[in-house]
Amino acid sequence: MRDVRAKAGEDPITMLTAYDAPTASVIDDAGIDAILVGDSMGNAVLGHDSTLPVTVDEMASRTAAVARGTEKALVIADMPFLSVGTSREASVENAGRMLKEADADAVKIESGPHTVELTEHLVRLGIPVMAHLGLTPQRVNELGGYTRQGTDEESAKEIIDLAHAHEDAGAFSLVLEHVPSNLAARVTEELSIPTIGIGAGPEVDGQVLVYNDVVGLSERAPPFAEQFGDVRGEIERAVAGYRDAVESGEYPAEEHSHHAEELEDLY
Ligand code: KIV
Ligand code: NA
Repeated sequence: MRDVRAKAGEDPITMLTAYDAPTASVIDDAGIDAILVGDSMGNAVLGHDSTLPVTVDEMASRTAAVARGTEKALVIADMPFLSVGTSREASVENAGRMLKEADADAVKIESGPHTVELTEHLVRLGIPVMAHLGLTPQRVNELGGYTRQGTDEESAKEIIDLAHAHEDAGAFSLVLEHVPSNLAARVTEELSIPTIGIGAGPEVDGQVLVYNDVVGLSERAPPFAEQFGDVRGEIERAVAGYRDAVESGEYPAEEHSHHAEELEDLY
């Protein structure tokens, strides 16, 4: 947390999602500042078509794996749909599991008017909270789609007010998703905690993207994402190579096999 806070105003903060230990290890070695175990795992690794079905158990398991694969980066567990914000006891229990059981450094909560007090309560208990405003995909059914938020004066004002409210409640950072760049710039200027943008333009303190979109592993990426690699293509080549080598008899070869002389007289 201290690193993420201290970095605001210097180099942009880098954050990426990860959902397993080997991926986290690669991301960590690359010097990414923070790893978010996003509930985007619903789409990215669990085969769902939204984030809503992701469970607290799944999040705890994946966060623990990411934490085991990470040495330096901050590990942040995303709180899945309805795991916080219902009753205070359930919220504390579920968020607490991410630190006690899964070794996360912090949790992220899709924020709204209903999470201000909760954020304050969790922070007081010792659970660092990253807030998240703008497009909050857990509300897709209410929003009617994954559309840009804060595009009119009233909704922009609401985002600015909620950003302040969550900073005041003790959030250590704020994700701004799919909002106009000038709104994100305004929030960044007004807050003292670092803002991390996704589809929010360059005038924020850091950027986050979904790992699968960045490496080219997604079926469908949002318009604001940029693909920096072709991992799907690499996997296709490797799998096809394996299939062909087995079918042609090239694999396994001499060097992959062991002939035990001792067994010559077995039958
Ligand atoms: O679940 C996720 O990956 C996220 C980021 C896109 C901010 O919430
Ligand atoms: Na999320």
